[in-house]
Amino acid sequence: METLNVQNLVKSFPISEKQRKTLGTSEKRKIAVNGISFTAKSGEVFGLIGPNGAGKTTTMRMLATLIKPDSGDALYNSISAVSSPELIRSQLAFLTTDLKPDMKSTPDLMFDFFAELYHLPSDTAASRKKELFTEFGIDKFSRTQIAKLSQGQRQKVSLVISVLHDPKFVILDEPTNGLDIIAAREVREFILNMKAAGKCVIISTHLFDLVEKVCDRAAMIMDGRIVVNDTLDNLMQGRPLEDAFYDIYTHIKGVE
Ligand SMILES: Nc1ncnc2c1ncn2[C@@H]1O[C@H](COP(=O)(O)OP(=O)(O)OP(=O)(O)O)[C@@H](O)[C@H]1O
Ligand SMILES: [Mg+2]
Repeated sequence: METLNVQNLVKSFPISEKQRKTLGTSEKRKIAVNGISFTAKSGEVFGLIGPNGAGKTTTMRMLATLIKPDSGDALYNSISAVSSPELIRSQLAFLTTDLKPDMKSTPDLMFDFFAELYHLPSDTAASRKKELFTEFGIDKFSRTQIAKLSQGQRQKVSLVISVLHDPKFVILDEPTNGLDIIAAREVREFILNMKAAGKCVIISTHLFDLVEKVCDRAAMIMDGRIVVNDTLDNLMQGRPLEDAFYDIYTHIKGVE
């Protein structure tokens, strides 16, 4: 059983003089994430849902060891992301919309490049490529230039490549952003596939629909804080998730 134990993550960024003027603030730092804690388990999909600027991407980047928290930690099976980032990186997949694939490359070449980066033995890489490309229908366009693929196909390639080293933890920031209904459905299938394979999956999104369709548990994040965290069944109680969260949102905004 894999467990990700997120403990009181805090991250702030300096606010430039120019930003201070546009934002109309005298604060020198912006607290993007303000004490986030949650637990996610293997064979489950954990969803972090929240409005623009809530701190989702910052949280995900800390989980992926791309940035260090000011304080707090993320324990992957008790191993600290803060003190052992390399070890953690070898066990996780991370995908964010900021990462753009090389347009001149092909899915095939990209896979080989990343397989080498992860030091996968060539026979393991070859069998893994065959398995993943077949499973997710990439074999049909594996030698086509990335530039000629649809956005959905590109996202699928990125997802598949992100898991080529068979990680235990899969962290996806806004995995269906900008995709059409067909591509979004395929990405959802990918997520459920990872769950069925026993991975611990963490996604961030602002789409209720995605959370309803794939998550076992969800936390709502607002202004860098988790305001509710529960199983999907408990959160929904027979009504749309959007209604449940909107009630919490207005309650918090109302009492602020
Ligand atoms: N590198 C940075 N420097 C300065 N401020 C930052 C930086 N990264 C994020 N922020 C600020 O931190 C806050 C949280 O940003 P973050 O990107 O984590 O939110 P988000 O929930 O992912 O939003 P979105 O839904 O728009 O992707 C925002 O106010 C953002 O402007
Ligand atoms: Mg974001």
